[in-house]
Amino acid sequence: MTTQTQQHTDNKQGYFGEFGGAFVPPVLESKLKNLSDFFYKTAFTKDFEEEFIHLLKTYVGRPSPLYYAKRLSEHIGSKIYLKREDLNHTGAHKINNTIGQILLAKRLGATQILAETGAGQHGVATATAAALFGIKCKIFMGAEDIKRQTLNVDKMKLLGAEIVTVNQGQGTLKDAVDAALGYYIEHPDAYYLLGSAVGPHPYPTMVAHFQSIIGKEAKKQIIEAEGKLPDSVIACIGGGSNAIGIFKEFIPEENVKLFAAEGAGEGLETKRTAATLNLGINMVFQGANSLCLADDKGNPIGSYSVAAGLDYPGIGPEHAYLKEIGRVDYHGITDDEAIAAFKLLSEKEGIIPAIESSHAVALAAKLFKDKNETVIINLSGRGDKDVERM
Ligand SMILES: Cc1ncc(COP(=O)(O)O)c(C=O)c1O
Repeated sequence: MTTQTQQHTDNKQGYFGEFGGAFVPPVLESKLKNLSDFFYKTAFTKDFEEEFIHLLKTYVGRPSPLYYAKRLSEHIGSKIYLKREDLNHTGAHKINNTIGQILLAKRLGATQILAETGAGQHGVATATAAALFGIKCKIFMGAEDIKRQTLNVDKMKLLGAEIVTVNQGQGTLKDAVDAALGYYIEHPDAYYLLGSAVGPHPYPTMVAHFQSIIGKEAKKQIIEAEGKLPDSVIACIGGGSNAIGIFKEFIPEENVKLFAAEGAGEGLETKRTAATLNLGINMVFQGANSLCLADDKGNPIGSYSVAAGLDYPGIGPEHAYLKEIGRVDYHGITDDEAIAAFKLLSEKEGIIPAIESSHAVALAAKLFKDKNETVIINLSGRGDKDVERM
């Protein structure tokens, strides 16, 4: 399993088994090819890595702590550690990727940054990085998400970003990605700063690379705390960036079990769900071959989850592959289960999680009840944005 995984994730064409690739109009083909070449040439140099790590340390506040959640552990009956991505500047893991990509954009001489956002966390992180480097920034956000994540919309405006309201479709993340890609096709000189491990190559690979700092830190921290690797690692999954970020370092460790919680919405058996890995079919969607929720005729359909950041019918190709080879178990968590976990973590630990991250907490509570396992939950973000709505 290990060799298979490594072989495919090292592929410079961006394929993970049969999943991945870059299916884009000709105007973007050469652009993405150049971006891919530039990423491999630049992101692994000493100069780039030093600047990236320096900013993560002094601006983002890394390393994020690995916190032993004693009262939650007693409640669940397993030893639960939280990787505190919620403590990063701007409140979620998204900033790791935006700092990495803005450093590439700066070196490419970009004068305009584009991004899509669902929960608004990636939008805020992008607007923040753009402000930091003094680059103009345009954020595409669905009308429905603008309504459910008002705090983040206000933050993006304050940071100087222009918000483009997307009224097409359901006004959620899928529509924001479509609109951002559409604008990018018309303005290929802009830098498209994609926020999850989705879309055409090289985005899934680049985003996973910049987010892999989470797993690298977590591995070191758990060995310091416990003297051994964890039994299991859990993350929530929308497009897949925080999950792949913490998983990467543990994938070769065959004794560490990996789990991800996707938004089941009103239930896997209903049509109101965002559980792509459980219910999706193989197709080309938004630039890559992966899994996607579809109707009876095989056309992509909209998704539903209470968590804007998980409300997406597609999934990053690396996760489709990890599911296929059986390395990660993907479970659906309903809105109600996530809301219960949102309250549980707030009351037991004084930590208010993002509603997205609450899905991972809910899955841990379900899987590890009285199991006495050592578990790391990736707490991908903080819940300030969700308090009013919950
Ligand atoms: C806090 C938080 N966690 C998780 C996600 C899901 O994204 P991903 O699967 O790329 O980590 C989001 C997306 O907006 C988010 O804001």
